[in-house]
Amino acid sequence: MCYTYNDFLSSATGDLCLGASGEGAAFSGREMGEEYKYLQRCLMEQYIVRGGNPLVGEVEISGAKNAALGILAAAIMTDDTVRIENMPDVRDTNVLLEAMESIGVVVNRVDRHTVETNSAHIGEVSVDYEYIKKIRASYYLIGALLGKYKEAEVPLPGGCNIGSRPIDLHLKGFRALGASVTIRNGFIIAKAEHLHGSRIYLDTVSVGATINIMMAASMAEGYTVIENCAREPHVVDVANFLNSMGANIRGAGTDVIRIRGVAKLHHTDYSIIPDQIEAGTFMFAAAATKGDVMVKNIIPKHLEATSAKLMEIGCEVEEFDSAVRVVASKRLTSTNVKTSPYPGYPTDMQPQICVALSLAQGTSIVTESIFENRFKYMDELARMGAVARVEGNTAIITGVDRLMGARICAPDLRAGAALVIAALAAEGITTIDDIVYIQRGYEKFDEKLRSLGAEIELVHDDKEARKFRFRVG
Ligand code: UD1
Repeated sequence: MCYTYNDFLSSATGDLCLGASGEGAAFSGREMGEEYKYLQRCLMEQYIVRGGNPLVGEVEISGAKNAALGILAAAIMTDDTVRIENMPDVRDTNVLLEAMESIGVVVNRVDRHTVETNSAHIGEVSVDYEYIKKIRASYYLIGALLGKYKEAEVPLPGGCNIGSRPIDLHLKGFRALGASVTIRNGFIIAKAEHLHGSRIYLDTVSVGATINIMMAASMAEGYTVIENCAREPHVVDVANFLNSMGANIRGAGTDVIRIRGVAKLHHTDYSIIPDQIEAGTFMFAAAATKGDVMVKNIIPKHLEATSAKLMEIGCEVEEFDSAVRVVASKRLTSTNVKTSPYPGYPTDMQPQICVALSLAQGTSIVTESIFENRFKYMDELARMGAVARVEGNTAIITGVDRLMGARICAPDLRAGAALVIAALAAEGITTIDDIVYIQRGYEKFDEKLRSLGAEIELVHDDKEARKFRFRVG
């Protein structure tokens, strides 16, 4: 279910469960006061879009949000000052920085994309629920605090808009490293006299568990082998970051990671990799609007599955050293897609391809194999004229000639961005509520789209929305 500002106001004492997810939602409606006012303000923001313009031009991609979250948490593992560049300025990374400050990390924003942290005087190993409910990935602080201080207390993250999100594998890994892990009053409490190396098999390929266990094992005594690891580029980036601080991690990017624990980590200067999901989102925006977009500051290798699918549905994709150009000069054609861990087709790009396929010639079958509940946005897309049937973890999409503008809401981060793509491709005006989710992971999304010729505006009230309508005619 998708909640609007009015829902929020009318149920302020209930639990709207607007929150608690990976790429899903962000807030619970229970709390009042400052956060209430903040939420009011955020929930009033909307994107208003007049669709129909092909996107044309160049766009610069920001640093990878999911790498940044792991790297920021890992930065607390040294007492030295750490400098991190190419930091995306998005809500999730900013909330994690606040969570870090709340336990005593000194954060210096050098400029919009550069941050320095000093964690020499962390006074607390307990992280407030306030943060974990806004950003699930604050669970990376467990691995980092446990590795450094052999102790961590972090609230248990809840479920989310894209399905149940267990963290049993993270806990299994911490236990294998010698920590006692208990759950009390909603908190995960992990403690160890000594952490020791171990051989850990992950029953499911998990990005979060791989990164969290890798962090703790970096400062365990002895040798750890993690098998059936996630191979995502952000896993490699966090491993490279830790190694640049003196950790000894080998094999990141393969399904076996070997770690020789070290006693101390030190200063580093590090630059985060580009965000392949943001890049892929712009590539699909070009495809769905029949555009021609050069997506810059990327690593094309990280986008191979996305590029392959775009070519399969009729786009031209040209790769350069650090850019990729997507040209869609004819109607897209249908295909079948199944999400899977990297290097497979990413679950975080599933809503974006579904939007493109909703406009393609023929019928497509999209299977979601990572998260159980990731087709919720299909109801919103249907309101714009898409024809799709969801059966369990499969969506059967019959392409239509055109989508039409409607009032819709963003149910979570990636689906929200995909619905913006739908709005850009649709005829007429679309208003998108709950864009707070999109802002979790896309820096200056509206600005970047406008630079490609999109008619999109972030509005705060009806007056601004009316002004936009008047202007675009
Ligand atoms: C990360 C990404 C998210 C992406 C997802 C899959 C971050 C901050 N988020 O989320 O954007 O959608 O990877 O690429 O990087 N699982 C378990 N037990 C566990 C952990 C996971 O069963 O302890 C299952 C999950 O339910 C899911 C699968 O493993 O079915 C993969 O989840 P995982 O890779 O852990 O996702 P996240 O790290 O939460």
